[in-house]
Amino acid sequence: MPDLPRVIEIERLAYPSTWPPSAYRKELQDNRWAHYIVLRDRKIAEERLAMPVQEPERPRRFFPLSLLPPRHSVTVPSPQLASIIGFAGLWLMVDEAHITTIAMHPGFRRLGLGEFMLVDLIGIAYNIGASWVTLEVRVSNYNAQNLYRKYGFREKGVRQKYYSDNQEDALIMWTDEINAPRYKQQFQELRTTLFRRLEAQ
Ligand SMILES: CC(C)(COP(=O)(O)OP(=O)(O)OC[C@H]1O[C@@H](n2cnc3c(N)ncnc32)[C@H](O)[C@@H]1OP(=O)(O)O)[C@@H](O)C(=O)NCCC(=O)NCCS
Repeated sequence: MPDLPRVIEIERLAYPSTWPPSAYRKELQDNRWAHYIVLRDRKIAEERLAMPVQEPERPRRFFPLSLLPPRHSVTVPSPQLASIIGFAGLWLMVDEAHITTIAMHPGFRRLGLGEFMLVDLIGIAYNIGASWVTLEVRVSNYNAQNLYRKYGFREKGVRQKYYSDNQEDALIMWTDEINAPRYKQQFQELRTTLFRRLEAQ
């Protein structure tokens, strides 16, 4: 819950339309089938912790007004908040894991980190007993589709005018049975390659 302000900030940068903040709160508080993750950059957190605490600049006022608190105080995000660079989530419905969201801050894309979050979500899907993973994606969102195809998601249908902001269609994508030996093996291979890449970076 304390991570929400930063998640909402990244969501605004990543998506053309956003969930109302209350939807996240409801998901986290009331939906026991929902699983959400945030990705943190340890370096940003350490840099923030090392930064001297800066007093917000106070507007100059003559006594006695100078005793009043400033009207516009600058809020410096805490290291915990500032270090969040991505988030993702899914719901379990019977034996299907439905990915509801996955977004990286634009300043941290193409580094393998969106893939890292997808790997984590599929890992969660295994842990909670899902057999398939599915999601919807805008027909124009080729970057995300490439990511999903890499992990064995295939197009199984279209939801017409699914997105209310521009009436865009959604592709419905599904993995094969994630416990099938072939899927498991491909997943492990992709995961190992990704982890090697991230370690080398
Ligand atoms: C989709 C998203 C999460 C990918 O995050 P990312 O950290 O940039 O992606 P990665 O660097 O981990 O890339 C993983 C794979 O995704 C695909 N991909 C990601 N960005 C791509 C791009 N700009 N062009 C082509 N393929 C791309 C590639 O298959 C890539 O594998 P590769 O590195 O072997 O080529 C990110 O672009 C994002 O936040 N987009 C906005 C939100 C969004 O559209 N979410 C999906 C909603 S369904």
